[in-house]
Amino acid sequence: MDIFRDWTDAHSAKFRKENFAVRHRLSETGLFTDEALADLLDRHPHNKLDVMTMGGTEGPYPNALRDGDPRGCSGKVLLDAAKAGRLWINVREAMNIHPEYQRVLDSMYGELAERTGVKRYKARGAILISSPTTVVPYHCDARDTVLWHIRGKKRFYVYPARNPYLPDAGYEAVVLRERDEDLPYHPSLEQGVTTFDLESDQMVSWVLNSPHRVENQSYCVSITTEFSTRESGFKNAVTVTNGLLRRRWGLNPSWYRDSMPVKVAKFAVGRILMKTNLYHQCLRQSYMTFRVDQSQPGYIVDIDPIVRQF
Ligand SMILES: [Fe+2]
Repeated sequence: MDIFRDWTDAHSAKFRKENFAVRHRLSETGLFTDEALADLLDRHPHNKLDVMTMGGTEGPYPNALRDGDPRGCSGKVLLDAAKAGRLWINVREAMNIHPEYQRVLDSMYGELAERTGVKRYKARGAILISSPTTVVPYHCDARDTVLWHIRGKKRFYVYPARNPYLPDAGYEAVVLRERDEDLPYHPSLEQGVTTFDLESDQMVSWVLNSPHRVENQSYCVSITTEFSTRESGFKNAVTVTNGLLRRRWGLNPSWYRDSMPVKVAKFAVGRILMKTNLYHQCLRQSYMTFRVDQSQPGYIVDIDPIVRQF
């Protein structure tokens, strides 16, 4: 099966260099129906499953996601909860763990490699199942990411990967995993927005680290895939050095200001720092603050925070 419906040479030229949307036919695999997803969720390990809801809309991090306890719910209940509640379910590595999904992921990246003429990336793929009211807060991903939207409607907002949209300290916090992938948001950033209205079977691809946010308009099912490139590996090692220079030694480093020789030196230092305690002490613990309960309207019951140990 060809994965893409209307891929042209223009898409090949834009891949990883510009933001664009293109049509695919992943829904035809039959792997993303509610029946298939309920069965998948019943088989998927809990330690690779995030069930999240959104916090308040005020402050510099509006709609920040918080973790829930995914244990004890059948796949069917989780899908019902996604339809009725305000949830964002991330079935992490679903496309790698389950052989029938891995085969599809292989075709997706095989075809991307063929069409763009680049090497075949070793991608990780998650399945996202989200409520009609879900909003995904303003954030960026530390590696190259592609959203393969499959079912429902959502509006995707993407912003330039430069100041003020992607501030140095904000990106360092993402790489040091201080607060998920969130970046500080302010309405003035809307002057740089590009919007994609995604319908079923549309993929959107963007430039590395471009900040983005999402507003669902219906119950949605998508895949998100992520892969490392030499470019992202280089930038992230430099960013570890910069992040620690700022946090440990009170300096004000900047990816944007540094010359290439300085970046190369910081890359070498960052590679070493990533193996040390200085880096690992920055990685935060995650807490679960609700559970999914089918007897409650909205399916969400707040609980005293517990550290997630699985
Ligand atoms: Fe993202």
